[in-house]
Amino acid sequence: MGRLVVVSNRVSIPQGEDKAGGLAVALNALMEHQGGLWFGWSGHTSDDAAAVKTPRIVSHGSVEYATMDLSPEELNSYYNDFSNATLWPLLHSLPEQMHFDRHSLHVYRAVNDRFADMLLGLLRPTDTIWIHDYHLLALAASLRLRNIRGPIGFFLHTPFPSPDMLGSIPEDSIFIRDLLAADLLGFQTSNDAENFVASAQRIAGAARLPGGGLQLGRRKIRVGVFPVEIEPAEFASMAEQACASPETERLRRSLDGQSLILGVDRMDPTKGLRHRLSGFRRLLESHPQWHRQTTFLQIAAESRQDVDAYQDLRADLEHAAGAINSNFGEPDWVPLRLLARAGSREAVSGYMREARVGLVTPLRDGMNLVAKEYVAAQNPENPGVLVLSRFAGAARQLGAAILVNPVDPDEIADALDTALKMSRPERQDRWHACWEAIRGSSALDWGRAFVAALERTDGERDVRRPGAEIRLVSQTATPKAS
Ligand code: G6P
Repeated sequence: MGRLVVVSNRVSIPQGEDKAGGLAVALNALMEHQGGLWFGWSGHTSDDAAAVKTPRIVSHGSVEYATMDLSPEELNSYYNDFSNATLWPLLHSLPEQMHFDRHSLHVYRAVNDRFADMLLGLLRPTDTIWIHDYHLLALAASLRLRNIRGPIGFFLHTPFPSPDMLGSIPEDSIFIRDLLAADLLGFQTSNDAENFVASAQRIAGAARLPGGGLQLGRRKIRVGVFPVEIEPAEFASMAEQACASPETERLRRSLDGQSLILGVDRMDPTKGLRHRLSGFRRLLESHPQWHRQTTFLQIAAESRQDVDAYQDLRADLEHAAGAINSNFGEPDWVPLRLLARAGSREAVSGYMREARVGLVTPLRDGMNLVAKEYVAAQNPENPGVLVLSRFAGAARQLGAAILVNPVDPDEIADALDTALKMSRPERQDRWHACWEAIRGSSALDWGRAFVAALERTDGERDVRRPGAEIRLVSQTATPKAS
């Protein structure tokens, strides 16, 4: 194959700022292994028109990282507003949190066009292009309009909503049609892929063929399920080592024999943090035997702080945490520790190994790699218990966790009680089943499976002309069950 060109809003440059998020974690392995070009936003803004128009390029090993600045207006309308206040809640089926305005939509499309223009100067004719996530829904179509004929794949890291939900955004059909300019569309679960296919039929007028395919004109597009994975063995050994680190040692000492409940998230409205704190509060109300016996450490790394919903969330969580501690705390016992800073991956892996319970309760999540990392971090001889939202993509693989409805505080409280008193043999059985579900794959396998499926579309592309009518043929290019 030609060179791999990955395009995503966030680019994870080694030794750069350590940004939390599943996308960066998932893609690092592939890029390090395969090499190529990774293009995206620098994470900075600039008022200087020349700086905004010129990519900055740095190389590490066989990877070139090319980044561009956004203008302050683009940051606000494309990233804060349209990507994170419109698309993010919509894709997570949380329409009551969605804010829409037409101006932001226009800027969003213009930034997607600018990504395409900037890429044109960097591309070679034989490149294979892989676009990532909801910031760049219009990019494949922009590239085709600029005469890029090579293979283009798109992977969505978030869930994909039902056609009804998607219909709540103006111009839904344009987004579907833009996505159909790619040759392969990848999703985290079969549910997401199925929702996309149903939307393509209903909203963009594609016809489903017998056997599950869709057709619109001569164009063929594959739709596949590619659940994102972690590097399980690597994470397990990092956690084992981190367990003896000074950070974990200090945490252990501070617990003084109590059982640790641990949550690790970005501070994001989709992560179910308000309900999670209510669940912990309910545990303390209805199961007082756990007073002084357990501490809940919630790491909620600050994220997207220019978006109103994120600011409101932080204020609510700080209020709820203060109320829990003032109601239930004692002079020598603080039940809840809420941190708004991300720890290093190493330190957090040690905390995970120390935690008796991993509490991962998003309202909805594309995959949730923290759930997989928690499993990988455990000591097989004496593992902790994963309490997991049934609406996280990871729940499809980790059915041996305690699955909960993330909006039900009583269910969370009961699950915590069950996890805290679970016998060692049952913990081992559940952990073993979870480990078996993740140990055979890796982030690298995930990336390679997608790229291989994208390469296979080569013989199927008969129409890549700009403006050509787009037709979708969905053939589930599933490398493994979701
Ligand atoms: C999720 C998204 C990623 C995003 C990450 C961090 O994992 O799927 O695309 O990069 O969150 O969010 P941020 O807004 O900081 O890039």
